[in-house]
Amino acid sequence: MSPILPVFLLIASLSTAYATCDPAALYDPTYAADAAGKGGVEVSRWLHLRTSAFHEPVSYTAAWNALEASIDSHNASHVRVIYGGTAPKCRTGAYYGLECAWNREHLWPQSYGVGESSGLTAAAAPRTDLHALVPSLKALNSARSNRAFAQITDWPNDDGRCGPKYVGCETPACTKTTCGVKGTAQWGTDPGFWTPPAMYRGFIARALFYMAVRYDGDEPNTFNLTLGETPAKGGGGGRGLEKAPYVFGALSHLLRWHDDHPVEAWERARNDAVCAVQGNRNPFTDKPELAAVVFGGVGTAAEADTSDAGKGFDTWTWSLVTGLAVMWALYIFGMFRWFV
Ligand SMILES: *[C@@H]1O[C@H](CO)[C@@H](O)[C@H](O)[C@H]1NC(C)=O
Ligand SMILES: *[C@@H]1O[C@H](CO)[C@@H](O)[C@H](O)[C@H]1NC(C)=O
Repeated sequence: MSPILPVFLLIASLSTAYATCDPAALYDPTYAADAAGKGGVEVSRWLHLRTSAFHEPVSYTAAWNALEASIDSHNASHVRVIYGGTAPKCRTGAYYGLECAWNREHLWPQSYGVGESSGLTAAAAPRTDLHALVPSLKALNSARSNRAFAQITDWPNDDGRCGPKYVGCETPACTKTTCGVKGTAQWGTDPGFWTPPAMYRGFIARALFYMAVRYDGDEPNTFNLTLGETPAKGGGGGRGLEKAPYVFGALSHLLRWHDDHPVEAWERARNDAVCAVQGNRNPFTDKPELAAVVFGGVGTAAEADTSDAGKGFDTWTWSLVTGLAVMWALYIFGMFRWFV
């Protein structure tokens, strides 16, 4: 075997690292342009493969560090917290001698098929997945508990829910020590419902869309996650494939939020930052029009975005070009040595 071949293979594999964080390389432009004409199941399967192929799950500790250092860093001393505001970067005991004010919130609750409380190991990929793991004020994380997301502030007062006399429906939701920003409200338990403030509604919808295509129970230590109107717990223990799926939602509210609160610049930056750490992207942040294709929509299913069609090289082409350039350089270098 030529001694150059291993070098070529090494360089080719190195050059693929992080290349998939370029959306133009990640989504097959021909397929994406045509996605709206395909069935939801087929597109969902395609997105499942695109989100799992490059995903290298991190540890739960590494996830904490990455949230603080880059993904949700607000500035040198503070992190952005879901449900509004910021909190000092700290470790337990390190913040003015008090317990740390923020911890990790699972937007898809651990007890609904992503964490130890649903029978998975501590290192399970869905539990440490940074697309749906965010800093939260500790008190609000506890207050939200495992409530599903819905816009309860719009519920009519005359159906016995969220009328002025029903404690717990106020906005913002408060604990003894902490309040969310206006727009945060809660109602009911088991699991009940939680309304995040407007600036996080679209992001949360897209995070849950991602979880539902990323995890279908076909890998060890995962369950089949699906979205619906009524949350339900699937079969516990072992592989999820043959078990009932875990259902979370509420899907109709998430679809409405997705339409009403389009992707913002900070979400795109967060998507890039997560990809830099775990290697995969949230396709619903990159291509919002695919949500209607996969989950059905409110309003019209927007045309698939074809703007990146034909733009740039894909990962494999870049590897080939890099590899050939290196082979050429080694060849010239060898000739040069031959003549001196
Ligand atoms: C970081 O942001 C927090 C919250 O907005 C602010 O109180 C603090 O002064 C900022 N610190 C720096 C170093 O900019
Ligand atoms: C996951 O559950 C959904 C809803 O029941 C089902 O349509 C889908 O086929 C399941 N996926 C797998 C891989 O079993």
